[in-house]
Amino acid sequence: MTSEPIRLGVAGLGRAFVLMLPTFRADTRLRLTAAAAPRAASRTAFRGEFGGTTHADVGALCADPQVEAIYVATPHQMHADHVVAAAEAGKHVLVDKPLAVSLEDGARMVAACDRAGVHLIVGPSHSFDAPVQLARQIIASGEFGSLRMIQALNYTDFLYRPRRAEELRTDQGGGILFSQAVHQIDMVRLLAGGLGQRVSAMTGAWDAARPTEGAYSALLQFENGVFATLTYSGYAHFDSDIWMGNVGELGHDKDPAAYGTARRALSGADPASEATLKARRTYGGGESPAPPQHHEHFGPVIVACDRADLRLTPDGVEINGGTSRGFRAAPLHAAPRASVVDALWQALRHGQPPVQTGAWGLASLEVCHAILTSAATGQIVDLTRQIAAPTQKEEP
Ligand SMILES: NC(=O)c1ccc[n+]([C@@H]2O[C@H](COP(=O)([O-])OP(=O)(O)OC[C@H]3O[C@@H](n4cnc5c(N)ncnc54)[C@H](O)[C@@H]3O)[C@@H](O)[C@H]2O)c1
Repeated sequence: MTSEPIRLGVAGLGRAFVLMLPTFRADTRLRLTAAAAPRAASRTAFRGEFGGTTHADVGALCADPQVEAIYVATPHQMHADHVVAAAEAGKHVLVDKPLAVSLEDGARMVAACDRAGVHLIVGPSHSFDAPVQLARQIIASGEFGSLRMIQALNYTDFLYRPRRAEELRTDQGGGILFSQAVHQIDMVRLLAGGLGQRVSAMTGAWDAARPTEGAYSALLQFENGVFATLTYSGYAHFDSDIWMGNVGELGHDKDPAAYGTARRALSGADPASEATLKARRTYGGGESPAPPQHHEHFGPVIVACDRADLRLTPDGVEINGGTSRGFRAAPLHAAPRASVVDALWQALRHGQPPVQTGAWGLASLEVCHAILTSAATGQIVDLTRQIAAPTQKEEP
């Protein structure tokens, strides 16, 4: 087993790749050796920063012998074909969330990676955030008794950030379910042990100009009796980062006076100018995020145990024990998403995959669909594809 850096190829040099840049720049366990992107400006920027080879299509990236694993960061609806192509070429895969749009595609991806004997990891998602991992350890220790209930909510400007046309069409994976709910579901499943049992939910699609789901509330019940409420609004009115110490999702201090930026920037944009605004946020478009001052987060999360309520913050976990309140810090790492690299490293170099495998991602995707189905039918939806998070004693 080598301790050489993982030779990573990247499929898609868009916004998701930009958000990984501070990690790729700081974590020496990875070496970016190649990329595939349709835009010449992104390919030029990649060669300028990382060297390596660039390809105009993912097929050529999969055939590149300098590539050991591929980070698939293309639009959701392309994940399935790109992951299957990578697996068939014998490459390990890190695919950004969500695993796929349809459950059929998700199952096809898991099967292709199993058949090829390659690792499939779904991430980053906010289940990798250090405070979530710390809360999970505290729950597993049993220090505060059994876990009983989780409440997760997030109010953002998601629907009013510049979007590609298909990001506003639910049947193509648009809207908040596939892009945002999947984060909340991943976090809550990780904390509750993974085995969701049934879902009841309602969704809202309230802006005819952006005709996809922008809000939901869901009640998720687990086999172990834990229950969770998940609420999200991406309508850019209330901003729940104010309840996270004015720290933004990516862990940067946020100026409350900048309230309303997303809606103001978008006002008057037609679909063509909106696509240009979106392209400006991709690699080679000029934006480059600075390393954050805090951990990433996905809005307020409160975890009720028998003897304490745990509140996740961008710096750690606040423990509300009834008679006293304490705080446990989650130390910052130079690479903000080091836990995602840990997952790749442990899988590829030590044969120990993380919780967030393809099968795990499929189970989270199942909950996204269950929310949509429950909202459409008014029925409670039973879950059938859930898998447990290994207990921490079973993990490396
Ligand atoms: N985890 C996170 O924090 C996070 C954040 C943003 C996006 N994402 C995920 O990343 C994925 C991409 O979303 P995005 O917002 O970056 O979109 P984007 O449009 O900014 O980026 C997609 C990129 O893929 C490229 N592309 C399109 N077709 C391609 C092809 N055939 N081969 C290679 N490249 C191709 C596009 O040129 C573009 O640069 C989505 O699945 C999304 O959920 C994750």
